[in-house]
Amino acid sequence: MATKATKATKATKATKATKATKATTGRVDSTLDVEELRQAIREEYATVARTPEQGFHFHTGRPLANLLGYDDAWLDGIPEGTVASFAGTGNPFRPGMGVLLPGESVVDVGCGAGFDSLIAARMVGAEGSVVGVDMTPAMLAKA
Ligand SMILES: C[S@@+](CC[C@H](N)C(=O)[O-])C[C@H]1O[C@@H](n2cnc3c(N)ncnc32)[C@H](O)[C@@H]1O
Repeated sequence: MATKATKATKATKATKATKATKATTGRVDSTLDVEELRQAIREEYATVARTPEQGFHFHTGRPLANLLGYDDAWLDGIPEGTVASFAGTGNPFRPGMGVLLPGESVVDVGCGAGFDSLIAARMVGAEGSVVGVDMTPAMLAKA
């Protein structure tokens, strides 16, 4: 029941973020409250940072990394908390996406708890650099 109530609350927030009005023509005009949407996203990812074990409508953690084809060796040495809060939408290291070379500089926009940043840091090595940027303070605190 608690889970359903939580989902209902999230759905309400998402609905509020998009204020839709149906015109007489049958077309739907929608006005997006960007700040409200941003706050809803921030709250969702703060939950992924703080209680990743609770379960979400998207995959997270090590199972997600496996689904996206992350090499097991890349995860070696990454803190379990960071792995647990991984919520990526793709694998930037997969073949065909380019290779990070030692000494390169990387900016990880939407770095979350730092999963990809830490993998990238190992690839670019001590001569390279990685900067993570995220709009969710709880994610940055974990990173
Ligand atoms: C899908 S998660 C991916 C997190 C991380 N890359 C990972 O692999 O676990 C998206 C992250 O991007 C952040 N984010 C979304 N929109 C952003 C924006 N406009 N600027 C900065 N961070 C953003 C969220 O706070 C969230 O932590």
